[in-house]
Amino acid sequence: MSEPAWLSQGRDHLWRPYCQMKTANPALPVVATRGSRLVLADGRELVDGLASWWTACHGYNHPHIAAAVREQLERMPHVMFGGLSHEPANRLATRLAALLPGDLNHVFLAESGSVSVEIAMKMALQFHINRGVKGRTRFLAFRGGYHGDTLATMTVCDPDEGMHSLFDGVMPRQQVGQMVHVVVAEGQGAGRRQLRSGPQTGVRQFIDQDQVVGPGQGRDDAGVGEIA
Ligand SMILES: Cc1ncc(COP(=O)(O)O)c(C=O)c1O
Repeated sequence: MSEPAWLSQGRDHLWRPYCQMKTANPALPVVATRGSRLVLADGRELVDGLASWWTACHGYNHPHIAAAVREQLERMPHVMFGGLSHEPANRLATRLAALLPGDLNHVFLAESGSVSVEIAMKMALQFHINRGVKGRTRFLAFRGGYHGDTLATMTVCDPDEGMHSLFDGVMPRQQVGQMVHVVVAEGQGAGRRQLRSGPQTGVRQFIDQDQVVGPGQGRDDAGVGEIA
């Protein structure tokens, strides 16, 4: 396949995620998308089984989504949230609040999974700061967990897996516990997860993968909870 000029020209200026650029395989040039397919520069088509890291869960070029984005871009592409609001954000928050269980009825909008986890962690810390409680700063995370690649989210990922171990010593170590599932059929706490961990001195918040939904992530991402 002869390479498009933009691919070779841009290669010297782009750092791509999750790879060592010196040894990474060349990226495939995508020129169009259709449904579940990626169209390459030479006309070949690939089925995108990852749905673009799950951000294209409804398929590419979905007519309803394309029309809504086009209409919104023409009317008002962006407005900051500082002191201002707009109908789509208010409608989305209202709809999400109606879907969420129990007293989970507030929404904080973020633009990625990692940022949503950062925000959840910051909220948990700020909860205690606002109450004047000092020292409740550590999080309990679950072994095998993955929550993103920004610095704070890396501290609550599995400490031994993946590239995050490279950054050991840069950020505070959190408490890591083994998740066990306890099925409670009825009554208060039905279906809730429980946690088994080592010594929990100073640990007051934990990351729970079912509490926050980030863009493109289907159902899971991190939220926070309290150790009783
Ligand atoms: C469970 C989970 N949390 C967080 C993230 C990070 O999301 P993002 O890549 O949008 O920052 C991912 C990404 O794959 C994920 O699978």
